[in-house]
Amino acid sequence: MVVPVILYGYPILRKQCFEVTKSDDTFLLSANLFDTVKKSKGIGLAASQIGILKRAFVIDTSPFSSDQENTTPICEQIFINPEILEQSANKIYYEEGCLSIPGIFEEVQRPEKITVRYLNLELNQIEEELDGIRARIFQHEFDHLNGILFIDKLNPLKRKLLARKLNKIVNS
Ligand code: CO
Repeated sequence: MVVPVILYGYPILRKQCFEVTKSDDTFLLSANLFDTVKKSKGIGLAASQIGILKRAFVIDTSPFSSDQENTTPICEQIFINPEILEQSANKIYYEEGCLSIPGIFEEVQRPEKITVRYLNLELNQIEEELDGIRARIFQHEFDHLNGILFIDKLNPLKRKLLARKLNKIVNS
């Protein structure tokens, strides 16, 4: 089911999310996250962005598949109780946006590669190294689970320049 994406300004986006347990309906959560991220033409969406304070998010790189140059396989996956085990010392800039912060796109610096552990939809534990767009989206969505938004990573001057745009979202 497509559900409304919670916008910047709502306190729920700043909350710490709870571990997913066996009693949680992860299939419903996954379906709602995928329906909503696809409808919104996003590439990632965290549970807290649809009002569920649980440690889970989806990555959906299918919007990149129309790009002929792109050779990386499509990632369409839920990540449950994710952890970042290692981060590369090398950091890179990449432009990020967020469905909760519409109309704002800024370069954010993050580690290029990460080693992660998570449960998939079948609740199998997986450990793998991510790079490229998957590493980028993973880190952005992982931050959501701890109440952190990509605009928090910008320098104070950039933040100041965005203040008016952000206030518009809060008052929309
Ligand atoms: Co986001």
